[in-house]
Amino acid sequence: MSRNLCMIRDVDQHVNETVTIGCWLHNSRSSGKIRFLQLRDGSGFIQGVVVKNEVDEQVWEDTGKLAQESSLYITGVVREDARSKGGYELTVTGVEIIQLTSDYPITPKEHGVDFLMDHRHLWIRSPRQRAILVIRAQIIRAVQQFFDERGFHLVDPPILTPSSAEGTTSLFHTKYFDEDAFLTQSGQLYMEAAAMALGRVYSFGPTFRAEKSKTRRHLIEFWMIEPEMAFFTHEENLEIQEQFVAYIVKSVLEHCRRELEVLGRDVSRLEGIEAPFPRITYDEAVKFLQENGHEIQWGEDFGAPHETAIAQQYHKPVFITHYPTDIKAFYMKPDPARPEVVLCADLIAPEGYGEIIGGSQRIDDPELLEQRFQQHELSKEAYQWYLDLRKYGSVPHSGFGLGLERTVAWICGLDHVRETIPFPRLLYRLYP
Ligand code: 4AD
Ligand code: MG
Repeated sequence: MSRNLCMIRDVDQHVNETVTIGCWLHNSRSSGKIRFLQLRDGSGFIQGVVVKNEVDEQVWEDTGKLAQESSLYITGVVREDARSKGGYELTVTGVEIIQLTSDYPITPKEHGVDFLMDHRHLWIRSPRQRAILVIRAQIIRAVQQFFDERGFHLVDPPILTPSSAEGTTSLFHTKYFDEDAFLTQSGQLYMEAAAMALGRVYSFGPTFRAEKSKTRRHLIEFWMIEPEMAFFTHEENLEIQEQFVAYIVKSVLEHCRRELEVLGRDVSRLEGIEAPFPRITYDEAVKFLQENGHEIQWGEDFGAPHETAIAQQYHKPVFITHYPTDIKAFYMKPDPARPEVVLCADLIAPEGYGEIIGGSQRIDDPELLEQRFQQHELSKEAYQWYLDLRKYGSVPHSGFGLGLERTVAWICGLDHVRETIPFPRLLYRLYP
């Protein structure tokens, strides 16, 4: 028999009606003749109230056996209740235990990070972790909507690749039968091919970097959104990025208020995120840093403290443009007016969350691209197909990559990217 279950998120449509919910016990407390059950079903949380004198003896007895994470079907009448968190309560009339539990490892007390990471498969049930994953899902939804509304096509680049896209130091090596292969660091080069076929494209997929850096911002496996647009210049590339990021933030504010509240996020910091975003050149950024006591010379890359110092000057994400050609990827187009810098930008999130986007206009001249292969010691054979894109109807084109986990960390206000993905792959952590 179908139970016709109600989801907790839908109880507002059943006020004063009897519903049955499939759920887990999150927490409970009892004061003699009345018992309060904090119930969760994934869609939300609701408090069930069991009054000893108003229920069958069996119901009182069974609800007394429940421990944290016991699973059950609960039946009751939905009541509007201004004092309770979600605005509704359940006056319990019946219970059917599915499984009783004992010794659930993640008790409501404080636990260390290592313990929680070892129990990540259970940790994701907690209200905070649930809120983060719900916001992550909403961001992905917003990404798809944004590009769908603008005539982009979703294209899936390969995961197993014969060559590198973002430098050779962080490649994940594997065997491909008798050949060597690498897990993709970025789908970009393939997305450039796709843009020449479909015009405006974006990808959304996992990327891998064998980075030996143990920081709050680095994952070994992370998800990237990589749009690529034919006939887009550097300036147009920045414009779509700021619209894109503003759209994502707005969408989360619209759909995830409750989750942001669970996280204690200061939403006023998100409400002002609207296009346009400020832009400064690399030159200006170096000057600013030097004037503010940072040891940095023109030609050096920025580290996290530099990015944070720059970002603190603004309430919105800030573009740093025109980095030195020598410290950026081989495919970036030099500024025709000043070839020692490239037509690129990193987008730095506010509040110290660091770089969330890297992007650029791409080299469209086949000879220049060949020169770059030589300078970067990349084998011409391996990139022949990529060179073809510049031989057969080369056009100006641009694209960028948004790191999903860093975006989630910023929007949720999290200290570390490890909480932004269901099962983080970190340096020295492959379990669970
Ligand atoms: O700046 P990156 O390396 O750029 C690219 O990969 C380009 N091919 C993208 C493109 O133009 N299509 O990476 C892009 C973004 C960074 O800004 C950052 O948000 C994220 O990906 N990212 C990481 N996130 C988590 N852990 C890591 N190890 C990351 N490395 C990069
Ligand atoms: Mg980058």
